[in-house]
Amino acid sequence: MAHDDGLHEAHAACTLGLEAALTEELTELGYADVRTSRGGVTFRASHRGLVEACLWLRTATRVTELLGRGPAFSRESFLELAAALPWEKWMRVTQTISVDATIRDSKVSHSGFAGLVLKDAICDRFRRQVGERPSVNADNPDLPLKLLIVRDEASIWRDWSGESLHKRGWRPVLVKSPLNEAIAAGLLRLSGWDKKSPLLDPMCGSGTFLIEGAMWAADRAPGLGRSFAFERWPDIDQKVIATARAAAKARGKATLPAPILGADRHPGAIALARKGAEAAGVADLVSFTETSLDQWAPDVTKPMIVANPPWGERLGEGEDLMVSWMDLSRWVRRFPDSTVCVLSGDAGLTKHLGLRADRKWPLMTGPIECRWLRYRIDSRPYMGTDTKDTP
Ligand SMILES: C[S@@+](CC[C@H](N)C(=O)[O-])C[C@H]1O[C@@H](n2cnc3c(N)ncnc32)[C@H](O)[C@@H]1O
Repeated sequence: MAHDDGLHEAHAACTLGLEAALTEELTELGYADVRTSRGGVTFRASHRGLVEACLWLRTATRVTELLGRGPAFSRESFLELAAALPWEKWMRVTQTISVDATIRDSKVSHSGFAGLVLKDAICDRFRRQVGERPSVNADNPDLPLKLLIVRDEASIWRDWSGESLHKRGWRPVLVKSPLNEAIAAGLLRLSGWDKKSPLLDPMCGSGTFLIEGAMWAADRAPGLGRSFAFERWPDIDQKVIATARAAAKARGKATLPAPILGADRHPGAIALARKGAEAAGVADLVSFTETSLDQWAPDVTKPMIVANPPWGERLGEGEDLMVSWMDLSRWVRRFPDSTVCVLSGDAGLTKHLGLRADRKWPLMTGPIECRWLRYRIDSRPYMGTDTKDTP
């Protein structure tokens, strides 16, 4: 069976603080009824639209579709809602499920319990119909479900993405960075980069900003290098998936209007960045230099400079950290009429930039509240001395 029955209520989730960037993305892609909420954006889309959302959204971490919504004032009422849904349309009995439950302001106090009720309802329905029941697989389910109970209302969603959408497939799994691909993409969008000006990251580490920036500027779909949960579902037309993938492959520019350049003093970081760019298919569009930033003088004008300088790592590194921020402060002033965006989790270090931000966006990366700060460097040429600008 394969059909696409009109528009479905959908939700794209993102890191707290990036909702505006994701809203812009969904609007640009032409989705209907785009509405911003906390931690995500709701919209409406056909199955084709949801396939495309998974392939194209850069800032989202997952895309879910509403399967059913109804009262959950008691176990019985919720069971009734869950058991009445046509599960056999969305999965085969030989496939596996998982339930991730969230409960807010509800009499149902235990999310694990609510999840179990949903699993039981699905299994009972299959047992009644075909005498067998699907199994649970928490790690790699065919049908990942989200259950949300808010006060007396439950909504049940299926997760089209499977693994988080920030995993594009270009970064080696073992590289851990607080700046994941979806966050980097969202921050670039917030920065206002026009994709035509040079993009520089003088402390590029594994190159997340620049690789994401190159993919965005070159119109490459971030999801082309990976698979998704929806590819295993019986009601999604394989032809729709193939067409969307082929259309995405056919797009993508081979050249960019301006250079995308990165530097880092750590040879291991530069090696990772080059590997990542290769895997992402943008090695020809980004170039990395192993150098300390005070030695780095890229020949560009009016760039967008982005950076995630070190902060808050290990005790005893305070002095080093401060020096990095002061180096960055001197370095950015070499570029008149540029825009500088910096991710910081430490206001004490940020003040060493000696610049006044014209925009500040709060952002939650895991449990840490950070700020994405934007500065404008004016057109006065840098005279080689430290600035006296107020922090
Ligand atoms: C938090 S990491 C950046 C992570 C990066 N955004 C990523 O995607 O992996 C900070 C980086 O700044 C680099 N760094 C610090 N001081 C530097 C300096 N003076 N010159 C060049 N790189 C520097 C470090 O080597 C480190 O890789």
